[in-house]
Amino acid sequence: MGDVGAQWDARFSAEGFACGTEPNDWLVEAAARFLPAAPLDVLSLGEGEGRNGAFLASRGHRATALDASKVGLEKAVSLAAGHGLSLDPWHVDLSTVQLPASAYGAVVSISCHLPPPVRARAHGQAVAALRPGGVLLLEAYTPAQLRFQT
Ligand SMILES: C[S@@+](CC[C@H](N)C(=O)[O-])C[C@H]1O[C@@H](n2cnc3c(N)ncnc32)[C@H](O)[C@@H]1O
Repeated sequence: MGDVGAQWDARFSAEGFACGTEPNDWLVEAAARFLPAAPLDVLSLGEGEGRNGAFLASRGHRATALDASKVGLEKAVSLAAGHGLSLDPWHVDLSTVQLPASAYGAVVSISCHLPPPVRARAHGQAVAALRPGGVLLLEAYTPAQLRFQT
């Protein structure tokens, strides 16, 4: 899966969960406001270790967890299973993936930081992957975040 997958595999190989097991606060708020009723087919880009996918599954959605990190996806599936939930893992790199068109009721991207050319490609595909009326929930940093060293 290349350098990105290897880097995140190393990070996620540590004990525990790098971003915790609770869902992202903004996603919880945005899902309540903007997501149509479950069940939706939801694609989560850069899902990592599963906290957001597990939350979406807990709301009755059919969640696909896309990530370049195999280690992260294994933890994601296991986190969801621990709550009696299922996630469909998709081990792929966003720099090369071809997302299916008009396939999802929602696409979620939380802190999936990508280099500009990959980002433009991935976000274009994310929009095209939505069914009519589908919702894109995207939380990302601007370059101003760099000064906080997070
Ligand atoms: C900061 S973590 C956020 C994880 C998760 N969204 C969360 O909020 O807990 C960024 C995630 O994006 C994934 N990622 C980064 N670049 C990627 C790429 N090119 N293709 C697929 N996944 C990628 C990483 O493997 C990692 O899991």
